[in-house]
Amino acid sequence: MRAENKFIVKLLLMVMAVSISSSMATLHRVGGKQGWHPNVNYSDWSVRQRFYVHEWLLFNFDKRYFNVLEVNQTSYDSCNDRDFIQNITRGGRDVIELTEARPYYFLSSGGYCYNGMKVAINVEVPPPAPAPAPVKNVSPPSIAISISLLLFLISFAVACFY
Ligand SMILES: *[C@@H]1O[C@H](CO)[C@@H](O)[C@H](O)[C@H]1NC(C)=O
Ligand SMILES: *[C@@H]1O[C@H](CO)[C@@H](O)[C@H](O)[C@H]1NC(C)=O
Ligand SMILES: *[C@@H]1O[C@H](CO)[C@@H](O)[C@H](O)[C@H]1NC(C)=O
Repeated sequence: MRAENKFIVKLLLMVMAVSISSSMATLHRVGGKQGWHPNVNYSDWSVRQRFYVHEWLLFNFDKRYFNVLEVNQTSYDSCNDRDFIQNITRGGRDVIELTEARPYYFLSSGGYCYNGMKVAINVEVPPPAPAPAPVKNVSPPSIAISISLLLFLISFAVACFY
């Protein structure tokens, strides 16, 4: 492949990457870098962020020891793992979509809930999307600008090489 063709392909890939990342839903990695382990303060983690409907949670854990069960508030408070609502556990990198605006409660069974492996989050209705019409005193969306810039660069490159 000619060098300028490679350059154009690179630009196209960049545009695709930017568009895909801007349309992807938010994924909250439970516990941040620490993941899903005993002796992590998950209240401390959950109060630092907001959760909206159609976002996702990711639980990263060693499935030989731990699991993820969705439970109700009573079971969360008492670390009861028997009457769970659903079992999120699959391979240890497990996701759940937050489909409703309500509190969600998760814990690990095997006694680890008593060592802090439980998390409560409150899911909210997303704030309304910004109006499509241009509004004054609002910072412009930088992703749209970088896409236009890249598209400009591509047409420039194409014009130069063909
Ligand atoms: C966990 O963090 C929350 C919120 O930051 C705090 O109120 C609570 O005391 C902490 N719990 C423990 C056991 O440290
Ligand atoms: C949670 O589930 C248990 C068992 O099904 C039930 O007894 C309890 O009342 C429920 N608690 C809430 C807050 O729904
Ligand atoms: C949850 O699901 C996993 C994987 O399907 C399974 O191995 C595990 O036994 C289940 N745990 C409970 C408590 O049902």
